[in-house]
Amino acid sequence: MAFYFDAPSHTFSEYLLVPGYSSAECVPDNVTLKTTVTRYRVGEEASAVTMNSPLVSAVMQSVSDDKMAVALAKEGGIAFLFGSQPIESQAEMVRRVKSHKAGFVSSESNVRPDQTMADVLALKEKTGHSTVAVTHDGTASGKFQGLVTSWDYRPSRLDPQTPVSEFMTPLAKLIHAKEGVTLKEANDIIWDNKLNTLPVLDTKGRLVSFVFRKDYDRHKANPQELLDADKSYVVGAGINTIDYKERIPALVEAGVDVLCIDSSEGYTEWQKMVLDFVRAEYGEDVKIGAGNVVDRDGFRFLAEAGADFIKVGIGGGAICITREAKGIGRGQATAVIEVAKARDQYFKETGIYVPICSDGGIVHDHHVTLALAMGADFCMLGRYFARFDESPGRRVMVNGSYMKEYWGEGSNRARNWQRYDSGGDKKLSFEEGVDSYVPYAGSLADNVALTLAKMRSTMCNCGALTIRELQEKARLTLVSSVSIVEGGAHDVVLKDQTGQN
Ligand code: IMP
Repeated sequence: MAFYFDAPSHTFSEYLLVPGYSSAECVPDNVTLKTTVTRYRVGEEASAVTMNSPLVSAVMQSVSDDKMAVALAKEGGIAFLFGSQPIESQAEMVRRVKSHKAGFVSSESNVRPDQTMADVLALKEKTGHSTVAVTHDGTASGKFQGLVTSWDYRPSRLDPQTPVSEFMTPLAKLIHAKEGVTLKEANDIIWDNKLNTLPVLDTKGRLVSFVFRKDYDRHKANPQELLDADKSYVVGAGINTIDYKERIPALVEAGVDVLCIDSSEGYTEWQKMVLDFVRAEYGEDVKIGAGNVVDRDGFRFLAEAGADFIKVGIGGGAICITREAKGIGRGQATAVIEVAKARDQYFKETGIYVPICSDGGIVHDHHVTLALAMGADFCMLGRYFARFDESPGRRVMVNGSYMKEYWGEGSNRARNWQRYDSGGDKKLSFEEGVDSYVPYAGSLADNVALTLAKMRSTMCNCGALTIRELQEKARLTLVSSVSIVEGGAHDVVLKDQTGQN
């Protein structure tokens, strides 16, 4: 007879934290959000990989590329570069993150001199950038010809078909720096000459990068940034259970810090085969997470197989239709609570702590705090990061509002990769994810700062200054559906819906 769980499974929105005693030292400035990412033994100082904030970005085409990785590492977290791409292009992304020089930005909006003002306007609309580089071939590393900013043209006066070469500010009238310039020198040039943008060119006159005045303050201090021993940003990468024997060596060679097997269901022999391969080839030197699981059996299996961390969650992702399509999954909160108990039990028995990551279903900022309170060591988010400037999806205008594209790894758009493809007849394959829009939300740094500020504040309400303390002290309550309604604004008419504000 089938096994029935005693209670229904729940998700984050059904829980609240009940405040505890806060001493005078419980103020947000005293809270640290440092957390462990990879397994460690009792008595060891810390795990090999730690983070300064408990956020990692999802292994998804629409979320985690090298640009996201740099932006998130600056805020203390780790991006897991998507694996649904050729091995060489993923390894190249790793190399770009590892060789990234803080403050030097490669140009993302580029045109050729023979393109028109209409092309410039369309590009600005698409990327949201106000500075456009003009290069001989319209690429980010072409021979640099000049710059176009809003000072250079008046859309109301200029014929949209006017070639860029006629209104750009040409190289001869611009101050530039040579490749090899330090960030300090570049900033001095910017300040001494009252520039907004400093192009950096190589000896052949090709564009290498830009340094922007507006980034100055950010570069001065990124106290949370996550760096390796060589002062490069820390980066993760997703892998699959099919081409791992080629993909892992390529990623390791490129300098990846931590790997993660990306699968919607991880309680499988395939995952053990990947973990065995890594231990046989690299011993403990290569760090690798596995998943996803939603119960203690799945956790135990992967912990014993040697996973460095274990990802929890099936069917809770915003773009996910796995539960609808296949009828498998579990409420995210219940899954985290049970797996955290299994993790603690495993620690007691073996002296080995295997961190767990709550993956998917974070809708509100406080859901991250709830996940941590329930025992997660860190959270993986897709929708959250897809909304930011730094995600790979296009920014588009939909019904008068800016949106970013967000599509699931199991959608037709992303698939053709092994994760959801059982290898059978194509006609019999079905989607496990959708292609969608999410409201555009601006820069990652601004949004993450706000999310972490809310978390620190909640942790203070619970009397906790560290994530470990939160897990020990948190008191959680299930809420009724009526009290969920009470939790939002209610019985008032919101001003911005009256059309008067
Ligand atoms: P979100 O933070 O709620 O958007 O969830 C992101 C998570 O959804 C990812 O980390 C994956 O675990 C999961 N996911 C990504 N793509 C798909 C899909 O196409 N179907 C089901 N789950 C997906």
